[in-house]
Amino acid sequence: MSEETRLARPPVRAAIVELLSHMRDGKEIREYLNRFSELDQERFAVIKVGGAIIEEQLDDLARALAFLQSVGLAPIVVHGGGPQLNTALEDAGFPEQRKDGLRITPSEAMGTVRDTLTAVNVKLVQAVRDCGGRAASIPSGVFEAELVDEAGLGRVGEPTGVRLDLVAAAAQAGQAPILTCLGDTSDGRLVNINADSAVRALVGRLQPYKIVFLTGTGALLDEAGAPISTVNLATDFDELMGKDWVDGGMRLKLQEIKRLLDNLPLSSSVSITRPDHLAKELFTHAGAGTLVRRGERIEEVTTLAALDLDRTAALVAESFGRSLKTGYFDTLDFDRAFVTENYRAAAITARLDDTVYLDKFAVMDAARGEGLGGAVWKRLVAYAPKLYWRSRRDNPINEFYFAACDSAIKRGEWTVFQRGETDLSRLPQLAEQIAALPASLEDA
Ligand code: ARG
Repeated sequence: MSEETRLARPPVRAAIVELLSHMRDGKEIREYLNRFSELDQERFAVIKVGGAIIEEQLDDLARALAFLQSVGLAPIVVHGGGPQLNTALEDAGFPEQRKDGLRITPSEAMGTVRDTLTAVNVKLVQAVRDCGGRAASIPSGVFEAELVDEAGLGRVGEPTGVRLDLVAAAAQAGQAPILTCLGDTSDGRLVNINADSAVRALVGRLQPYKIVFLTGTGALLDEAGAPISTVNLATDFDELMGKDWVDGGMRLKLQEIKRLLDNLPLSSSVSITRPDHLAKELFTHAGAGTLVRRGERIEEVTTLAALDLDRTAALVAESFGRSLKTGYFDTLDFDRAFVTENYRAAAITARLDDTVYLDKFAVMDAARGEGLGGAVWKRLVAYAPKLYWRSRRDNPINEFYFAACDSAIKRGEWTVFQRGETDLSRLPQLAEQIAALPASLEDA
């Protein structure tokens, strides 16, 4: 073992220990690792890091990137250098001036811009290497750009193209490509590119599976300042934009994310997290930060005829690992179904006298961690404030059910849950009745 790798071991080990301490078993981490490894490595993830993170959390960042490396993943990192540029340009006699949010960059300042961003780049690359990771420094040569408004903004460019050769070569060689937001014009002039525009151009071209924003807060925050775990744009975007507590910064961020995801496959997602939470965010269902997906609309189906029975049956079978009994739909006293547009999550309710009974709640394995089940649940309980359901002892979703219910009663192999019941004297009798319902799934 070389001196370098021996020194490198403890930081990566710390990241693994940190990750494992959040895991109940290794199943989730293996699933995600398989999913991420199947991709061409340049399509795994684009990670955007602000300059402030490199100033303030360099160790955590380097460790997180080295950790991904150690499990064979090569994310593409795009970093800014806002605070570093402010200081360096100020020192060089170019105090910060902005127009429409863009940094005015006189051509005489370009030498300082280039040197500063290159230094930030090399610092990050070196830090990753010090942790035993493999990273490739690519400070320029990727973004083709044209000047936006030379008279007003100076050397500020908007990307017109992305040269992937350098990036793909590094990723395929197992090195994390680390890029700055410098571009060049067709006549070879170096330009400063806004980091969001650079990420957008890169993402549009690469169509990555994950886009990660590493920030100081590490999540989008709700009204009470608590992290929002998931945002399903199809069902949540308009609602969030209508809230007065969503401030200007968050509004812009949500719009930017929506713009990114609208041009990507449905399977792609954005995560907002912190360097020290990156592994947990990527390798667990629960994550650590905010996961944003384009998501699926949820349809409310009011007649059995309007429900695609084959797809529903396939969803239930995949979700429970057991099939519906034949004739299930014939004997069901169908009430409602809430189904996502691609049949990846569903809740089916039946009538039990005057009570709404949740007969099936199913989420595809591949959709766990997306917040899709949560979105269906939200629609369900809005529809049925008073709701009963049951589950077997070993159902992995029970923890969620216990948290979501008002009371739970054990009856034989079943636990019967309810929320919203106002007449508690009905509980024992309803619990008996529900526990006695015939099984609807084939035995395993
Ligand atoms: N590990 C999964 C992913 O990276 C799920 C993350 C869930 N994260 C969350 N904040 N709810 O796509």
